[in-house]
Order: sequence, then C-alpha cells, then structure tokens
Amino acid sequence: MTTEDIDALVHKRVIESGAYPSPLNYRGFPKSVCTSVNNVACHGIPNKRRLVDGDIVSVDITVFSNGYHGDCCETYLIGNVDEAGKHLVNAARRCRDEAIAICRPGVPFSDIDNDYPGTMEEGMTFTIEPIVAQGSEEVIILEDGWTAVMLDNGRAAQFEHTILITCKGNEILTQYH
Ligand code: CO
Repeated sequence: MTTEDIDALVHKRVIESGAYPSPLNYRGFPKSVCTSVNNVACHGIPNKRRLVDGDIVSVDITVFSNGYHGDCCETYLIGNVDEAGKHLVNAARRCRDEAIAICRPGVPFSDIDNDYPGTMEEGMTFTIEPIVAQGSEEVIILEDGWTAVMLDNGRAAQFEHTILITCKGNEILTQYH
C-alpha cells in the first residue's frame, strides 16, 4: 500500500467516529495524517510511494473530538526490518513509555528530556512524543514546508501519547482499546 492509502483509511475512520482529523488544512497541511518513512523524522505528507519490505513508518494521528485534540503516534515495521531498525523502533517506544511513567504532579518538565522550566500540575494535558534517530540529531525541512528529514539520512522512529496529569500520577488519553 501507499502512504496515501493510510491517509484514506485514517480519514474515513476519523470521520466515521464523529471526529475531525486535526492535521487536515492545519496551516495548509494537505492530508489527514502524518506518515514518516525511514529517514523522515516527522510531518511526512502521505504520497504515492509504496511501502516496501524493510521500511519503518511512523503514523501520527491527531483527532479533534468534543472540543479536544488527541495526538498519538506509533512506528510500524513493514515486513522484515533489519535488527538495527527494530532496535531503533523499540528504543523510541521505550523512551515514550518511560517518560510517561515519571509524569505526576510536582515533577519538573526537565525530568522528561529538556531544560524547560516549570513543573507538572494536576489537570494539565500535554504530549510525550520522542523522536529517536540512528545517527545525527540534525533535521532539515523539505521544500514542501513540512517534511522533516534526517540530515545524515539515518532512520528515525517516533512514538506519542497525549496524557493528563491526575492527582495520583497520569492518565493516557490516547490509549488504543
Ligand atoms: Co502527533
């Protein structure tokens, strides 16, 4: 299948569920989902390229429903992916899940992965969305204004959930049931 096929599936399913695909027409984004293959770090625009054996593809889905946006992403292995690719994808998933595990009221945001000020408070919602790359962390944006590609052409994987800080810790709002 092509990444445009993924877009058509996601669009149909989101509309059927009574939600709106947030990326569609967001600042001119032309599709309903971001699909980022191999060396694309994020914000890949679905197109006519067919997925081939060994690809990894991040599917980043955001929906607007009942006044709220929910944003989540998973990276999928297409067919037989080499060991380095599988390791990359597992590492990205682990980064997301271990970051979520430490989120609770009073924890500094800097404990996740950056040096931003502030601490988490009950009632806050935000996303945890690590992108993990095999090589350099540098990305460039292509002429379409969206597609972020690894400068060294290494592969990248991304996982994401939207979470809510609760009195006890956190709740994942974009869990797949
Ligand atoms: Co996202």
